[in-house]
Amino acid sequence: MTSSDAEEFRAKHLSEAEGAVLRADGLIAGYLPGVNILNDTDLYCQPGELVGIIGPNGAGKSTLLKALFGLVKIHEGTVQLNGEDITGKRADELVTRGIGFVPQTNNVFPSLTIEENLEMGCYQAPKKFSERFDFVTGIFPALGERRKQRAGGLSGGERQMVAMGRALMMEPSVLLLDEPSAGLSPVMQDEVFVQTRKINKAGVSVVMVEQNARRCLQICDRGYVLDQGRNAYTGPGRALADDPKVIELYLGTLGAKGD
Ligand SMILES: Nc1ncnc2c1ncn2[C@@H]1O[C@H](COP(=O)(O)OP(=O)(O)OP(=O)(O)O)[C@@H](O)[C@H]1O
Ligand SMILES: [Mg+2]
Repeated sequence: MTSSDAEEFRAKHLSEAEGAVLRADGLIAGYLPGVNILNDTDLYCQPGELVGIIGPNGAGKSTLLKALFGLVKIHEGTVQLNGEDITGKRADELVTRGIGFVPQTNNVFPSLTIEENLEMGCYQAPKKFSERFDFVTGIFPALGERRKQRAGGLSGGERQMVAMGRALMMEPSVLLLDEPSAGLSPVMQDEVFVQTRKINKAGVSVVMVEQNARRCLQICDRGYVLDQGRNAYTGPGRALADDPKVIELYLGTLGAKGD
């Protein structure tokens, strides 16, 4: 990416990010001092939007979600939730303020039942439980039917539902999903994309990272291609999926997965 591309990207971001439910501006972040994984990353999600992030392994996709959720130290730049600066706030505070996060791995408590996992999702506001349980089981009826079953005994697809359900218990205004379809059978992968769309249609803004790049671009309103901690491309999902440069650089191999 040339510096004029970067300037153009930033200008577009600044003109479009106004009013976003979640936005990140110029994030520089990493795990170790002096080693930056995010190198000036911008991102926004407008209310009701389903935003997808794709990119090669090690591009910094998980790091970006973790930075938005207060799990990675931000060296420079800002994160705003509904116009309020939340840069550097702790994850538990961000949950209270309205961010739901489903990590890439270890995202359920295996020894707890489905119902107990969902209770954990709103331990900060137990009074919400019954209303939110109804909302979550409306989206995932199987979770209601099997509420007494331990999460450890569930299939990968079912565990993913529990993890998404748990993150929805605090009524988040934006839900961050890290590779929800990873490791699932093709049928279950499709199911996860349908469920994500359903959650979004129910009014929850969603930012999803996906290894199944082509499928992600098909369902998202807008996508970002992240490469080496920088946004390489952005645009409507379908436009990115049809962009020859994106196909050549990122969909040639990534896109073949799951097709
Ligand atoms: N906890 C950590 N401590 C130090 N470095 C880390 C840590 N987690 C990730 N990294 C490094 O940060 C870089 C980006 O990793 P990240 O997990 O964000 O990539 P990703 O785009 O999510 O990749 P994948 O598609 O494999 O999930 C990699 O070089 C990785 O080695
Ligand atoms: Mg990752």
